[in-house]
Amino acid sequence: MQQRGQFSSRLGFILAAAGSAVGLGNIWGFPTQTASNGGAAFLLIYLALIFVLAYPVLCAELLIGRHGQSNPVASMQLICSHRSTRKAATLVGLAGMITVSGILSFYAIVAGWMIAFMGEPLALMVGAEQPANWMTSFGVGRNLLFTAIFMLFTIWVVNAGVKEGIEKWSRRLMPALLVLLLLLIGYLLTQEGAADGLKAYLVPDWSHLSPELLLKAMGQSFFSLSLGVGTMMIYGSYLSRDENLPKLAAQVTLVDTGVAVLAGMLIMPAMYVALHNGVEIFDANGALISSGDLVFQVLPALFDTMGSAGLIAATVFFLLMSIAALTSSISMLEVPVAYVAERFALPRAKAGYLVGGAIMAFSVLVIFNFGFLFGKVISITTEYAQPLIGLMFAVFTGWVWKRNRLLNELRQSNPEIEQGLFWKIWPTYVKFICPLLIGAVVLQSLM
Ligand code: PHE
Repeated sequence: MQQRGQFSSRLGFILAAAGSAVGLGNIWGFPTQTASNGGAAFLLIYLALIFVLAYPVLCAELLIGRHGQSNPVASMQLICSHRSTRKAATLVGLAGMITVSGILSFYAIVAGWMIAFMGEPLALMVGAEQPANWMTSFGVGRNLLFTAIFMLFTIWVVNAGVKEGIEKWSRRLMPALLVLLLLLIGYLLTQEGAADGLKAYLVPDWSHLSPELLLKAMGQSFFSLSLGVGTMMIYGSYLSRDENLPKLAAQVTLVDTGVAVLAGMLIMPAMYVALHNGVEIFDANGALISSGDLVFQVLPALFDTMGSAGLIAATVFFLLMSIAALTSSISMLEVPVAYVAERFALPRAKAGYLVGGAIMAFSVLVIFNFGFLFGKVISITTEYAQPLIGLMFAVFTGWVWKRNRLLNELRQSNPEIEQGLFWKIWPTYVKFICPLLIGAVVLQSLM
């Protein structure tokens, strides 16, 4: 058997798990959803769901993974003691794997746009106007090229393994992204119009509250914390037995949520600054004209206000975004690759190219049928599949995993856990409240 990789330190794990969590979901998904769903109203519901639903499920996923020390399908099987539950566990693990592959197929397209938008200012610096234009205009050729580039990078890092690949990249780049975000927000707030954006972001308009909004906020919270697909389970499996898991999970949640809130602080005011500078963002009814590429409209408009320094700011920003997307996409591809490599005893690299190639083929399908497929794939995978599979993880932790074995797993790192608040609340919570809440949100949106 091949030796399994492991994170070399606690900080390595936090940065890698936060690297998985922080990505396009924070800086593209969250601000776009906030802008189209009532600003502060969406923000508040999202924050509530992160702490009420996503954090407990994150603990469950990490714990199942660390217990199993294997790919999600095998880890899920390991907490079952009956044949029938083991079968169901296999199905849930496989569903997660299919979902994460679907997510990667659209994620790579959006990440490709980030790379293209990084190329644009570079091209402009050397006076290549036409290629610059091509890179920022929507088109099949551009989408194909940059999606493929991004997928190749993803496969390449995943093949390098845990310590050399995943951990090293996350460790270097996460802090840089944070600093740049803060600098940009600082600049932005000096611009005319920014105050209106801040107001829309921070003062709730509850007229937007609807079953649909709840579903979207829940999907966004699961998407942002990389839940319900086995990613966190796999990262848990690379975690050593003596780490305090509830605390690590809390740290990852805080970092991820912090970056999303900051990104909103950048994008929402940037929208209104762009509006102030004559960019059309809302239609006559006050709805967003194009939500999917909102970020790609308002940020370049912001960089334009900076003169030639804007070219550099744009390059660095989109570079960091591409990298943030990469530390997430590698955590997606890791799930099916670990499974295929361990299940069929294939070398990692082979599994990487095989699975990566298949997902790229699906991306090509989405690119050629963009109007029809893109939004649907996002909605099915993130709004329905992720929370529902997360629900199953909670059900398995609460109902199938024997309570004393669960306690033993937690005790390994926290010998006193039994006396603490976490053990008093969490097991009952994932058993009853999480499944009920997730089920209720999905149901009310279908009615
Ligand atoms: N959390 C990532 C982001 O916010 C996306 C992701 C989803 C990563 C599922 C892994 C698994 O961009």
